[in-house]
Amino acid sequence: MLTKVHHVGIVVHSADEALKFYRDALGLPVTADQVIEDQGVRGILLQIGGSEIELLEPTRNDTGVARFLESRGEGMHHICFESDDVEKELEAARARGIELIDEKPRPGLAGMICFLHPKSNHGVLIEFATPVA
Ligand code: CO
Repeated sequence: MLTKVHHVGIVVHSADEALKFYRDALGLPVTADQVIEDQGVRGILLQIGGSEIELLEPTRNDTGVARFLESRGEGMHHICFESDDVEKELEAARARGIELIDEKPRPGLAGMICFLHPKSNHGVLIEFATPVA
């Protein structure tokens, strides 16, 4: 079951610059800050109530996030819905013929995650995540 908006992902040129707004000006606390090598991004989570903002800074040029930044500039990248069972969510999407990016869940900043293709979702890149307890 999908339970809430877990986070909104925002692609930025420089996470350090973006922190000056989201952390310093808005006062949102940072709950995670790490480089995810296999995805080629530095990801930062900032808490706002029961949800989070995820800042994504590409660390190399050969990734989807880097290409997004190159072609569209900084801005909103995806919405992540929390689920108690990301595997089941992905299977349900597959059964409905929704186009997937990930064929199975993988570890990400928000726990076990997977992405659905924006083509199937009215232009919005959708992530499902089950936080690791
Ligand atoms: Co995300």
